[in-house]
Amino acid sequence: MTIHIGAAPGEIAETVLLPGDPYRAKWAAETFLDNAACVNQVRGMLGFTGTWKGHRVTIHGSGMGMPSLSIYANELIRDYGAKTLIRIGSCGAMQEAVKVRDLILAMTSSTLSTPSRGIFRELNFAPSADYPLLRAAADAAERRGVPTHVGGIHSSDVFYDERPDLNEQMTRHGILGVEMEAAELYILAARHGVRALAVLTVSDHLLTGDALPSADRETSFGDMVEIALEAAFTGD
Ligand code: HPA
Repeated sequence: MTIHIGAAPGEIAETVLLPGDPYRAKWAAETFLDNAACVNQVRGMLGFTGTWKGHRVTIHGSGMGMPSLSIYANELIRDYGAKTLIRIGSCGAMQEAVKVRDLILAMTSSTLSTPSRGIFRELNFAPSADYPLLRAAADAAERRGVPTHVGGIHSSDVFYDERPDLNEQMTRHGILGVEMEAAELYILAARHGVRALAVLTVSDHLLTGDALPSADRETSFGDMVEIALEAAFTGD
């Protein structure tokens, strides 16, 4: 047990998928894992461990925003020995060529700040994905025929953004989309020598105002879970 995770030692797998929403963790575990058991419910943040094609997997909510993700990722890595962490979430698109429902694989993440800022001080550390995981996820997405974009994203601290000029600069510099967790996940993975990737479905579009209809959310989320699982175990 840790402060925020009630799982007993050994109840968390080395491979962890991290959706923001705890109920998405429950749905994904019940839909894609065999013998899924709930291993955490502290503060309503649900985590489940089961198997996928014989591989042990934990699917655990991260909450919204980098401070919340940072708490869970720190405890999963440092206390439970997680070695591969894949965020599965949604993002807002920032390029015309990126459409609602498309997949974004975050090669890097730009930020204004992260919970790790106090460590880096004046250094602009470049949070980046694990390359073999990224490549495996791109291959898995191609096999499934899901339109996919690989590149830089923005991990923001705010959903209700008051800086249109910042979004304009991000778009101008080729940033594909905005979400709120990946940069801190990549930084923690680098710090602890583990693998991380963010697989994101475009749920809304900042330039066009398009949004994913709620009826399509489950299908897109399901594709993302399977792509993340295939990537995690490529080469095993
Ligand atoms: N901003 C930040 N995070 C998000 C968004 C957004 O527009 N869409 C989905 N996650």
